[in-house]
Amino acid sequence: MAEQDAQDKGFVGVFDSGVGGLTVLGCLVAELPHERFVFFGDSAHAPYGDKTPEEVLALSRSIAASLVGEGAKALVIACNTATSVAAQVLREEYPSIPVIGVEPALKPATLAPRHRRILVMATAATLRLGKFQRLEERWAADSEVIEVPCVGLADLIEKGNPASPAIHELLERYLGPWRGKVDSVVLGCTHYPLVREQIREVMGDVPLFDGGKGTARETRRRLKAADLLAPESQAGSVELRSSIDTPEELALYQKFFNLARR
Ligand code: DGL
Repeated sequence: MAEQDAQDKGFVGVFDSGVGGLTVLGCLVAELPHERFVFFGDSAHAPYGDKTPEEVLALSRSIAASLVGEGAKALVIACNTATSVAAQVLREEYPSIPVIGVEPALKPATLAPRHRRILVMATAATLRLGKFQRLEERWAADSEVIEVPCVGLADLIEKGNPASPAIHELLERYLGPWRGKVDSVVLGCTHYPLVREQIREVMGDVPLFDGGKGTARETRRRLKAADLLAPESQAGSVELRSSIDTPEELALYQKFFNLARR
């Protein structure tokens, strides 16, 4: 710490159940190139989408406690499922630092010119919880929202091969029946932008919405408001960590982070 720039206000802690949050991290680095980011993916416990709210809350609290204990100046919950369950609790537990969550990008989808029928892909937990229901009531009065819980998809993405036949088959099963029948698709889980190309193969040329850029802009706003933005003289950095702490897993994280930044 002593060696750091005197103006250094600490790092931004970012976490997810696994590799999905790297799609948000890619947007954060683009928006905030001078920040230091520490990313933690809980791949040992992924997927969160199949867990009970109590389990997701306990895992999220433990990750947040360790990042804040290390000096995080802000937390980004780069996981829709964990945001739905834990954002409010973490804001109450850490009132002195910004806690930013993600949510399915339903709002921009409803504001697009074609928004009659919007398909939302997400974990079963995200779709079931009150936060998504409130989002739908607020923004989708003029739209028909088709909720598609993509059970098993995040888990397959965690295995590291977006082009695998198993992913294609699952996408075909969940999305195939809606091909040509919707105006847009919301990627309501941070893992799903990693299979954007594969979703396009099944759905064709419909707009795909995800919340990564919006979350990055919100993080900038919140850091600025709290006077926590890194000085422009600071070189940004990224540290990737996983609860599966092996060289192979970290190489996979790096591969997905590179993919997310393209
Ligand atoms: N990436 C997470 C999300 O945005 C959760 C995926 C999972 O672990 O089920 O919801």
